Amino acid sequence: MKGILLAGGHGTRLYPLTFSLSKQILPVFDKPMIYYPLSMLMLAGIRDVLVISTPAALPLFQQLLKDGSQWGMNFSYVEQPEPKGIAECFVLGKDFIGDDSVCLLLGDNIFYGHGLPEKLMAAAQTGTGALVFAHPVSDPERYGVVEFDETGKALGIQEKPTNPRSHYAVPGVYFYDNQVVEIAANMKPSARGELEITDVNLAYLAKGELRVDILGRGFAWLDAGTHESLLQAANFVQALQERQGMMISCPEEIAFRRGFISRDELRALGQQMAGNHYGTYLLRVADGKV
Ligand code: DAU
Repeated sequence: MKGILLAGGHGTRLYPLTFSLSKQILPVFDKPMIYYPLSMLMLAGIRDVLVISTPAALPLFQQLLKDGSQWGMNFSYVEQPEPKGIAECFVLGKDFIGDDSVCLLLGDNIFYGHGLPEKLMAAAQTGTGALVFAHPVSDPERYGVVEFDETGKALGIQEKPTNPRSHYAVPGVYFYDNQVVEIAANMKPSARGELEITDVNLAYLAKGELRVDILGRGFAWLDAGTHESLLQAANFVQALQERQGMMISCPEEIAFRRGFISRDELRALGQQMAGNHYGTYLLRVADGKV
Protein backbone atom coordinates (compact mmCIF):
# COMPACT_ATOMS: atom_id res chain seq x y z
CA MET A 1 0.00 0.00 0.00
CA LYS A 2 1.13 3.52 -0.86
CA GLY A 3 0.56 6.64 1.23
CA ILE A 4 -0.40 10.18 0.24
CA LEU A 5 0.05 13.18 2.50
CA LEU A 6 -2.01 16.08 1.25
CA ALA A 7 -0.53 19.33 2.47
CA GLY A 8 -1.66 22.04 0.10
CA GLY A 9 -4.35 24.67 0.29
CA HIS A 10 -4.09 28.35 1.16
CA GLY A 11 -4.59 28.03 4.93
CA THR A 12 -6.70 31.19 4.83
CA ARG A 13 -8.23 30.52 8.23
CA LEU A 14 -4.76 30.81 9.75
CA TYR A 15 -3.77 34.13 8.15
CA PRO A 16 -1.43 35.92 8.87
CA LEU A 17 0.45 32.80 10.08
CA THR A 18 0.18 31.27 6.63
CA PHE A 19 0.97 34.30 4.47
CA SER A 20 4.49 32.96 3.96
CA LEU A 21 4.44 29.50 5.56
CA SER A 22 2.46 26.38 4.75
CA LYS A 23 -0.05 25.50 7.46
CA GLN A 24 1.21 21.92 7.65
CA ILE A 25 4.72 23.10 8.56
CA LEU A 26 3.54 25.19 11.50
CA PRO A 27 4.50 23.81 14.93
CA VAL A 28 2.12 21.73 16.97
CA PHE A 29 4.07 22.05 20.21
CA ASP A 30 7.44 20.45 19.39
CA LYS A 31 6.97 19.12 15.86
CA PRO A 32 5.88 20.39 12.46
CA MET A 33 2.19 19.61 11.94
CA ILE A 34 2.89 17.19 9.10
CA TYR A 35 4.77 14.83 11.44
CA TYR A 36 1.43 13.83 12.99
CA PRO A 37 -0.35 12.54 9.86
CA LEU A 38 2.96 11.17 8.56
CA SER A 39 3.21 9.12 11.75
CA MET A 40 -0.18 7.61 11.00
CA LEU A 41 1.07 6.32 7.66
CA MET A 42 4.20 4.94 9.30
CA LEU A 43 2.14 3.22 12.01
CA ALA A 44 0.09 1.61 9.23
CA GLY A 45 3.39 0.17 7.96
CA ILE A 46 3.43 2.32 4.81
CA ARG A 47 6.89 3.36 3.62
CA ASP A 48 6.29 4.84 0.14
CA VAL A 49 4.72 8.26 0.62
CA LEU A 50 3.81 10.99 -1.84
CA VAL A 51 3.73 14.51 -0.41
CA ILE A 52 1.46 16.89 -2.33
CA SER A 53 1.56 20.62 -1.71
CA THR A 54 1.55 24.02 -3.37
CA PRO A 55 4.40 25.00 -5.73
CA ALA A 56 5.59 27.52 -3.12
CA ALA A 57 5.52 25.14 -0.14
CA LEU A 58 6.75 21.94 -1.76
CA PRO A 59 10.47 22.89 -1.52
CA LEU A 60 9.97 23.51 2.22
CA PHE A 61 8.57 20.00 2.67
CA GLN A 62 11.49 18.60 0.67
CA GLN A 63 13.89 20.44 2.95
CA LEU A 64 12.11 19.13 6.02
CA LEU A 65 11.44 15.52 5.05
CA LYS A 66 14.21 14.92 2.45
CA ASP A 67 14.02 11.63 0.54
CA GLY A 68 12.88 9.81 3.69
CA SER A 69 15.87 7.45 3.87
CA GLN A 70 16.91 8.93 7.24
CA TRP A 71 13.74 7.28 8.63
CA GLY A 72 13.80 4.21 6.38
CA MET A 73 11.07 5.83 4.27
CA ASN A 74 10.78 6.74 0.60
CA PHE A 75 9.25 10.17 -0.08
CA SER A 76 8.17 11.55 -3.46
CA TYR A 77 6.82 15.02 -4.12
CA VAL A 78 4.22 16.45 -6.49
CA GLU A 79 2.85 19.97 -6.86
CA GLN A 80 -0.82 20.83 -6.69
CA PRO A 81 -0.91 24.12 -8.65
CA GLU A 82 -4.34 25.13 -7.27
CA PRO A 83 -6.42 23.65 -4.42
CA LYS A 84 -8.97 21.98 -6.70
CA GLY A 85 -10.13 19.50 -4.10
CA ILE A 86 -8.88 16.72 -1.89
CA ALA A 87 -9.75 14.00 -4.41
CA GLU A 88 -7.44 15.62 -6.98
CA CYS A 89 -4.58 13.96 -5.12
CA PHE A 90 -5.50 10.66 -6.80
CA VAL A 91 -5.26 12.33 -10.21
CA LEU A 92 -1.94 13.98 -9.37
CA GLY A 93 -0.73 10.77 -7.72
CA LYS A 94 -1.82 8.36 -10.49
CA ASP A 95 1.72 7.33 -11.54
CA PHE A 96 2.88 7.10 -7.93
CA ILE A 97 -0.04 4.84 -6.97
CA GLY A 98 0.42 2.59 -10.01
CA ASP A 99 -1.47 -0.69 -9.42
CA ASP A 100 -1.36 -0.39 -5.65
CA SER A 101 -3.91 0.45 -2.97
CA VAL A 102 -3.51 3.78 -1.18
CA CYS A 103 -4.02 5.50 2.15
CA LEU A 104 -4.66 9.25 2.17
CA LEU A 105 -3.90 11.41 5.20
CA LEU A 106 -4.84 15.08 5.34
CA GLY A 107 -1.84 17.09 6.47
CA ASP A 108 -3.67 18.96 9.21
CA ASN A 109 -5.29 15.99 10.96
CA ILE A 110 -3.94 14.79 14.31
CA PHE A 111 -4.93 11.51 15.92
CA TYR A 112 -4.19 9.88 19.23
CA GLY A 113 -5.56 6.88 21.06
CA HIS A 114 -4.97 3.46 22.51
CA GLY A 115 -5.15 0.76 19.83
CA LEU A 116 -4.74 3.16 16.91
CA PRO A 117 -1.62 1.43 15.51
CA GLU A 118 -3.48 -1.89 15.44
CA LYS A 119 -6.48 -0.31 13.70
CA LEU A 120 -4.20 1.26 11.09
CA MET A 121 -2.26 -1.96 10.48
CA ALA A 122 -5.56 -3.81 10.01
CA ALA A 123 -6.91 -1.12 7.69
CA ALA A 124 -3.78 -1.30 5.53
CA GLN A 125 -4.55 -4.99 4.94
CA THR A 126 -7.92 -3.92 3.48
CA GLY A 127 -8.62 -6.01 0.41
CA THR A 128 -11.14 -4.57 -2.04
CA GLY A 129 -13.17 -1.44 -1.51
CA ALA A 130 -12.69 1.52 0.78
CA LEU A 131 -12.45 2.04 4.51
CA VAL A 132 -13.14 5.30 6.31
CA PHE A 133 -13.56 6.09 9.98
CA ALA A 134 -16.34 7.80 11.91
CA HIS A 135 -15.75 9.89 15.01
CA PRO A 136 -18.32 11.67 17.22
CA VAL A 137 -18.03 15.48 17.20
CA SER A 138 -20.00 18.38 18.60
CA ASP A 139 -19.99 20.31 15.28
CA PRO A 140 -20.64 17.75 12.50
CA GLU A 141 -21.76 20.46 10.05
CA ARG A 142 -18.06 21.36 9.59
CA TYR A 143 -17.14 17.93 8.20
CA GLY A 144 -18.08 15.01 6.01
CA VAL A 145 -20.85 13.32 8.01
CA VAL A 146 -21.69 9.61 7.88
CA GLU A 147 -24.96 8.10 9.00
CA PHE A 148 -25.61 4.51 10.07
CA ASP A 149 -28.50 2.15 10.59
CA GLU A 150 -28.93 0.30 13.92
CA THR A 151 -26.45 -2.38 12.83
CA GLY A 152 -23.75 0.22 12.13
CA LYS A 153 -24.02 -0.13 8.33
CA ALA A 154 -23.26 3.15 6.49
CA LEU A 155 -26.37 4.61 4.85
CA GLY A 156 -25.02 7.87 3.48
CA ILE A 157 -22.30 10.48 3.61
CA GLN A 158 -22.81 14.22 3.17
CA GLU A 159 -20.21 16.97 2.91
CA LYS A 160 -20.77 19.75 5.46
CA PRO A 161 -24.56 19.29 5.69
CA THR A 162 -26.61 22.15 7.14
CA ASN A 163 -28.74 19.64 9.01
CA PRO A 164 -26.45 16.69 9.82
CA ARG A 165 -28.20 13.33 10.09
CA SER A 166 -25.67 12.11 12.66
CA HIS A 167 -22.93 13.52 14.86
CA TYR A 168 -20.30 11.22 13.30
CA ALA A 169 -17.70 13.06 11.23
CA VAL A 170 -15.38 11.34 8.75
CA PRO A 171 -11.80 12.23 9.71
CA GLY A 172 -8.99 12.84 7.24
CA VAL A 173 -7.66 9.29 6.99
CA TYR A 174 -8.94 7.15 4.12
CA PHE A 175 -8.00 3.70 2.78
CA TYR A 176 -8.81 2.81 -0.85
CA ASP A 177 -8.17 0.02 -3.28
CA ASN A 178 -6.84 0.86 -6.75
CA GLN A 179 -10.30 1.71 -8.11
CA VAL A 180 -9.87 5.15 -6.53
CA VAL A 181 -7.63 6.23 -9.41
CA GLU A 182 -10.37 5.65 -11.96
CA ILE A 183 -13.11 7.02 -9.71
CA ALA A 184 -11.17 10.28 -9.23
CA ALA A 185 -10.27 10.53 -12.93
CA ASN A 186 -13.97 10.49 -13.86
CA MET A 187 -15.21 12.88 -11.20
CA LYS A 188 -16.68 16.32 -11.83
CA PRO A 189 -16.06 19.31 -9.58
CA SER A 190 -18.76 20.09 -7.01
CA ALA A 191 -20.75 23.32 -6.83
CA ARG A 192 -17.83 24.91 -4.98
CA GLY A 193 -15.48 23.82 -7.79
CA GLU A 194 -13.65 21.03 -5.94
CA LEU A 195 -13.14 17.30 -6.49
CA GLU A 196 -14.73 16.19 -3.23
CA ILE A 197 -13.41 13.31 -1.17
CA THR A 198 -16.99 12.74 -0.04
CA ASP A 199 -17.95 12.01 -3.68
CA VAL A 200 -15.21 9.36 -3.81
CA ASN A 201 -16.68 7.78 -0.69
CA LEU A 202 -20.20 7.98 -2.16
CA ALA A 203 -18.96 6.16 -5.28
CA TYR A 204 -17.72 3.29 -3.09
CA LEU A 205 -20.95 3.38 -1.05
CA ALA A 206 -23.00 3.05 -4.26
CA LYS A 207 -21.01 -0.08 -5.16
CA GLY A 208 -21.58 -1.49 -1.65
CA GLU A 209 -17.82 -1.34 -1.10
CA LEU A 210 -17.51 1.28 1.64
CA ARG A 211 -16.70 0.10 5.13
CA VAL A 212 -16.84 2.39 8.13
CA ASP A 213 -14.95 1.76 11.35
CA ILE A 214 -15.92 3.77 14.41
CA LEU A 215 -13.21 5.66 16.24
CA GLY A 216 -15.12 6.10 19.48
CA ARG A 217 -14.77 8.58 22.32
CA GLY A 218 -11.56 6.88 23.49
CA PHE A 219 -9.73 8.44 20.54
CA ALA A 220 -8.68 12.03 20.06
CA TRP A 221 -9.03 13.53 16.60
CA LEU A 222 -7.93 17.13 16.30
CA ASP A 223 -7.63 19.33 13.28
CA ALA A 224 -5.36 22.30 13.53
CA GLY A 225 -6.86 24.57 10.91
CA THR A 226 -7.83 27.58 13.04
CA HIS A 227 -5.93 29.63 15.60
CA GLU A 228 -7.96 28.12 18.44
CA SER A 229 -7.64 24.50 17.29
CA LEU A 230 -3.92 24.93 16.61
CA LEU A 231 -3.36 26.07 20.19
CA GLN A 232 -5.63 23.34 21.56
CA ALA A 233 -3.71 20.69 19.63
CA ALA A 234 -0.38 22.01 20.93
CA ASN A 235 -1.68 22.06 24.51
CA PHE A 236 -3.03 18.53 24.15
CA VAL A 237 0.30 17.20 22.87
CA GLN A 238 2.29 19.05 25.51
CA ALA A 239 0.10 17.89 28.40
CA LEU A 240 0.16 14.23 27.40
CA GLN A 241 3.83 14.11 26.54
CA GLU A 242 4.86 15.74 29.80
CA ARG A 243 2.62 13.47 31.88
CA GLN A 244 3.67 10.23 30.18
CA GLY A 245 7.26 11.02 29.28
CA MET A 246 6.52 9.66 25.80
CA MET A 247 6.12 11.49 22.52
CA ILE A 248 3.02 11.60 20.36
CA SER A 249 3.73 11.04 16.65
CA CYS A 250 7.50 11.08 16.67
CA PRO A 251 8.52 9.72 13.22
CA GLU A 252 12.05 8.80 14.35
CA GLU A 253 10.70 6.67 17.22
CA ILE A 254 8.07 5.01 15.03
CA ALA A 255 10.71 4.27 12.37
CA PHE A 256 12.78 2.53 15.03
CA ARG A 257 9.92 0.62 16.66
CA ARG A 258 8.60 -0.52 13.25
CA GLY A 259 12.10 -1.74 12.31
CA PHE A 260 12.60 0.81 9.49
CA ILE A 261 15.85 2.02 11.07
CA SER A 262 18.36 0.46 13.45
CA ARG A 263 19.11 1.47 17.03
CA ASP A 264 22.38 3.05 15.88
CA GLU A 265 20.60 5.06 13.21
CA LEU A 266 18.12 6.33 15.79
CA ARG A 267 20.99 7.25 18.09
CA ALA A 268 22.65 9.24 15.29
CA LEU A 269 19.38 11.14 14.69
CA GLY A 270 19.18 11.91 18.41
CA GLN A 271 22.75 13.15 18.49
CA GLN A 272 21.94 15.74 15.81
CA MET A 273 19.55 17.34 18.30
CA ALA A 274 21.19 16.24 21.55
CA GLY A 275 21.00 19.74 23.00
CA ASN A 276 17.21 19.82 23.22
CA HIS A 277 14.37 17.75 24.62
CA TYR A 278 13.57 16.16 21.24
CA GLY A 279 17.08 14.82 20.73
CA THR A 280 17.34 13.73 24.36
CA TYR A 281 14.11 11.78 23.92
CA LEU A 282 15.43 9.98 20.82
CA LEU A 283 18.59 9.04 22.71
CA ARG A 284 16.50 7.69 25.60
CA VAL A 285 14.46 5.58 23.17
CA ALA A 286 17.70 4.33 21.55
CA ASP A 287 19.00 3.39 25.02
CA GLY A 288 15.81 1.45 25.79
CA LYS A 289 14.82 3.85 28.54
CA VAL A 290 11.37 4.68 27.14
O1 DAU B 1 -10.66 17.01 8.37
C1 DAU B 1 -11.61 16.10 7.84
C2 DAU B 1 -12.48 16.76 6.80
O2 DAU B 1 -11.59 17.19 5.74
C3 DAU B 1 -13.55 15.80 6.26
O3 DAU B 1 -14.50 15.49 7.25
C4 DAU B 1 -14.28 16.42 5.07
O4 DAU B 1 -15.17 15.49 4.52
C5 DAU B 1 -13.26 16.87 4.02
O5 DAU B 1 -13.88 17.52 2.94
C6 DAU B 1 -12.25 17.81 4.63
O6 DAU B 1 -12.91 18.99 5.04
P1 DAU B 1 -12.13 20.37 5.26
O7 DAU B 1 -13.08 21.48 5.25
O8 DAU B 1 -11.25 20.24 6.46
O9 DAU B 1 -11.23 20.43 3.98
P2 DAU B 1 -10.18 21.51 3.60
O10 DAU B 1 -10.61 22.17 2.36
O11 DAU B 1 -9.83 22.35 4.79
O12 DAU B 1 -8.90 20.63 3.27
C7 DAU B 1 -8.35 19.71 4.19
C8 DAU B 1 -6.83 19.69 4.03
O13 DAU B 1 -6.45 19.34 2.72
C9 DAU B 1 -6.19 21.04 4.31
O14 DAU B 1 -5.06 20.84 5.11
C10 DAU B 1 -5.80 21.58 2.97
C11 DAU B 1 -5.64 20.35 2.14
N1 DAU B 1 -6.09 20.58 0.77
C12 DAU B 1 -7.39 20.86 0.53
C13 DAU B 1 -7.85 21.04 -0.76
C14 DAU B 1 -9.29 21.34 -1.03
C15 DAU B 1 -5.20 20.49 -0.26
O15 DAU B 1 -4.00 20.22 -0.03
N2 DAU B 1 -5.62 20.67 -1.54
C16 DAU B 1 -6.92 20.95 -1.84
O16 DAU B 1 -7.24 21.11 -3.02
